[in-house]
Amino acid sequence: MQAIPWWAREGFWAKTAVFVTALSFVILIWLTFDTMKQIMAGSVRVPDYSVINQRISYVADDERGYQVPKIGPEEPLFGKKLTEEEAAALVRKGKLVIQGRNCMNCHTLLGNGAYFAPDLTKAWLDPAWGAATIREQLMVQFLMDPTNNARTFGSGRKMPNLKLTEDEAKAVVAYLKWMSAIDTNGFPYNFKPIPQGGE
Ligand code: HEC
Repeated sequence: MQAIPWWAREGFWAKTAVFVTALSFVILIWLTFDTMKQIMAGSVRVPDYSVINQRISYVADDERGYQVPKIGPEEPLFGKKLTEEEAAALVRKGKLVIQGRNCMNCHTLLGNGAYFAPDLTKAWLDPAWGAATIREQLMVQFLMDPTNNARTFGSGRKMPNLKLTEDEAKAVVAYLKWMSAIDTNGFPYNFKPIPQGGE
């Protein structure tokens, strides 16, 4: 009888299976920690929540070939400067409203969601708001009553009234402002920001 070559032995494949499983486990744990570092507020690409106290604009980065966020001078949301804790609480409330009302059923946020309605990742900087100085009020009005405050965001569709209270709408605006400051590697593409004052 011919001897079975080493690569065809059951023991070899059993050891290989154990080794591959163990290695994948280690790599997955490492990737998890590496990802956390990139997606947590206060990291290189994702600013602290208190960034909502500042002007957010976009500047062309020739090396990377697209526009990247630039955190500008102080420009508090709704004219009130918040501490990091207050800002974190407000942005979190906005996130809960967005999750609770299932905005992702129609919209996309940071690459997740649907494309029935405009991408919200940079909605804070959408020129459709007319002017940077009045947009926060217009956004609150729109979110509380989209039917009567409809603007042209280019989709040709209508957003339903989701009956947001003023506090909920303001929290959503805080979330949208914070989200617009995230460096998303130029995503979504072809985006042209609203001109900011003083630049
Ligand atoms: C049933 C689908 C639908 C749902 C759910 C929905 N929207 Fe919309 N939304 C739209 C449509 C459609 C438009 C675009 C209207 C237009 O083009 O005039 C829009 C526009 C917007 C805009 C303006 C976009 C821009 O480019 O500036 C914002 C901000 C917005 N929605 C926020 C929200 C938030 C926050 C929620 C959840 C609380 C939500 N939407 C839920 C359909 C929806």
